[in-house]
Amino acid sequence: MDVIIEKCTEQVIEIYEQFDASHDFDHILRVMKNAEEIGMTLPEADMSIVRLAALLHDVDDPKYQTVSHVSAKVLLQSSGVDEEMAMRVLETIKSVSFNGGNEEEIVSIEGAIVRDADRLDAIGAIGIARTFAFGGARGRKLYDANEVIRMNMSESEYRSKNTSSVTHFYEKLLLLKELMVTEEGKRLAEERHAFMLAFLDQLKREVGLEG
Ligand code: NI
Repeated sequence: MDVIIEKCTEQVIEIYEQFDASHDFDHILRVMKNAEEIGMTLPEADMSIVRLAALLHDVDDPKYQTVSHVSAKVLLQSSGVDEEMAMRVLETIKSVSFNGGNEEEIVSIEGAIVRDADRLDAIGAIGIARTFAFGGARGRKLYDANEVIRMNMSESEYRSKNTSSVTHFYEKLLLLKELMVTEEGKRLAEERHAFMLAFLDQLKREVGLEG
């Protein structure tokens, strides 16, 4: 299994290094570390599936599609993963995405682990850094006092608008704590969530935002 993971890693590094800093290979390494940590509390999980899914989870992200896109499915095949395992990995990846709150039902313990691991990296100090990195890469405003926070959006509504980075906290990041699935994920999310609230408080005071 280690050989397969190594092969897969070699292939994905190149792909992720073309993404901006919010979704680069360091993001993948942090998600893998979070997944190991959560996985320790769930010994029934198949960690080979978890590791491969964590490694490949952003390869097919619609935010980063290019014409030369190589899919997670193709990468699994070319790394020598058998068909049954490849299907399980792809199923696991499917349960990771937020999609504006229109998320897939969790189907497996492995899916729960990778989803929580990815979400932990979206919140806390690192979540703040990534949000502004992504916003910068897309030319978004830091904040916008006139913006209305959208709730209960469809997936296309969620993806369609270039909202400011601060608005993204209210439309997604502050909701993630409640959407954690695993006990360990919930526990780890608490401190990170509190830190984001403190950050937003301070930011509002500094720049004179209401609310
Ligand atoms: Ni991710």
